[in-house]
Amino acid sequence: MFQRMLVWGLVLGGGGLLAWFGLIGREKFLYEQMELYRQPEPMDPREIHYVPTPPPVVAKMLAMANLSGSDIVLDLGCGDGRLVIEAAKQFGCRGRGYDIDPELIELCEQNAREAGVEHLVDFYIQDIYEVDISDATVVMLYLLPEMNLRLLPQLQSMADTARVITHDFELPGVQIVEEAKVQNDTGPNYMHISHRIFLYHAPFLFDLDYQPEGKKMIEAVEYVLQRRVLTRNEPTEKSEVERSAGEPTNADGGS
Ligand SMILES: C[S@@+](CC[C@H](N)C(=O)[O-])C[C@H]1O[C@@H](n2cnc3c(N)ncnc32)[C@H](O)[C@@H]1O
Repeated sequence: MFQRMLVWGLVLGGGGLLAWFGLIGREKFLYEQMELYRQPEPMDPREIHYVPTPPPVVAKMLAMANLSGSDIVLDLGCGDGRLVIEAAKQFGCRGRGYDIDPELIELCEQNAREAGVEHLVDFYIQDIYEVDISDATVVMLYLLPEMNLRLLPQLQSMADTARVITHDFELPGVQIVEEAKVQNDTGPNYMHISHRIFLYHAPFLFDLDYQPEGKKMIEAVEYVLQRRVLTRNEPTEKSEVERSAGEPTNADGGS
């Protein structure tokens, strides 16, 4: 009798324990699922997705860059590579394009081969904020204003003859040398009709009185100031002394 009770006790007790652990396990599982559900999607480093520059705008950007065969043309966020490929085709310039999207880089290489300029241009899968651009003479940008601004320390690492040409969005806080408008009616692939183009000349001095609006813009301004960019207002004189002495222009090494 006692033995039977012991067996039943063990069976019921063990079952209870199993049920208890089962519940805890299930609760833990549900909790983990909820945590997973709460977690944000992994961040896509792209703040702007692929939108190609229409051919008439490409033509105007190249014209405003005043290109010659000795130029080194970069497109940061190069999409299908059209800007550097056209520059190589029309002016014989060397060029490099950088994009985070591997499929676009593959397309760039295919387009370069089709245009017969693969010996002049190179394309890389790379985050634009990590690229050394100090040897470039011309940089093309079709990015958001805060992205353009975050690139300022890198842009200031280029030589004094360098030019930057931006499509639709300015390089905020930097003096514009020339501005143009282009109407595009080349088809439904393009998002809008009226395009703006901005030309800037090195050393791309930043205006300390520039008052940005919006969280991302303010963050971008803080970023460039932390990187000790050349400014129009004050530290310029010191920086110019450094420049004439052949010292690096950014105290922390630029990009
Ligand atoms: C508006 S498209 C411009 C494409 C091309 N420059 C043109 O004008 O036709 C912007 C491109 O930037 C790329 N991009 C965005 N963020 C990037 C990053 N952090 N590093 C590299 N490429 C990036 C996108 O994949 C996209 O192809």
